[in-house]
Amino acid sequence: MDNVNQAKFWQQHYEQNSIKWDMGEVSPPLKAYIDQLPASAKSEAILVAGAGNAYEVGYLHDQGFTNVTLVDFAPAPIEDFAKRYPDFPSDHLICADFFALSSDKYQFDWALEQTFFCAINPARRDEYVQQMATLLKPKGKLVGLLFDVAFEHEGPPFGGTKEEYQQRFAPYFDIEIMQTSYNSHPARQGSELFIKLRAK
Ligand SMILES: C[S@@+](CC[C@H](N)C(=O)[O-])C[C@H]1O[C@@H](n2cnc3c(N)ncnc32)[C@H](O)[C@@H]1O
Repeated sequence: MDNVNQAKFWQQHYEQNSIKWDMGEVSPPLKAYIDQLPASAKSEAILVAGAGNAYEVGYLHDQGFTNVTLVDFAPAPIEDFAKRYPDFPSDHLICADFFALSSDKYQFDWALEQTFFCAINPARRDEYVQQMATLLKPKGKLVGLLFDVAFEHEGPPFGGTKEEYQQRFAPYFDIEIMQTSYNSHPARQGSELFIKLRAK
């Protein structure tokens, strides 16, 4: 399980094109969420961590969001993203460990979660919650999707339940929405929760 803590593990998957998690498109519930945001949101500071091929970042950029930061510790998908989006600001492409990001340097209005939480070692889930809360401004929000399923195979992805997530996030976030996503990608229909959590 410790291998998922290493950038090398993920980098090899990208190099071997063994990326079963990659939907090849912006996640439909996240696209729908982005589409209903007001124009005033376009300058907000947004974090997409564990972004991989980062279709959500590409979509935000295409829609005119100007302050989006992509974080991943595997260089391959970031290099690929930079080729696909040559006009995306390179200082917002951060090849680094999410857990090592300094909140003195980075503060975001909100963050998008898309198959990153399920990719980390489950023993680090509380660390994720704390680190995410630290990187958000007061009352900042975490929006995204969490798997609501127990996978039979050993992860990643690592599954979970609504009850577990409620307990883990409650110390640092108010849970505004945590419900079965009604507009998931067909391959994930019924197996993920849409979340909107507000940092305390
Ligand atoms: C399952 S993939 C999901 C990628 C993307 N969100 C998607 O849905 O296609 C998990 C991603 O998280 C990245 N990752 C895992 N642990 C990380 C960490 N501690 N810091 C930064 N990135 C990490 C991996 O390199 C990988 O790109």
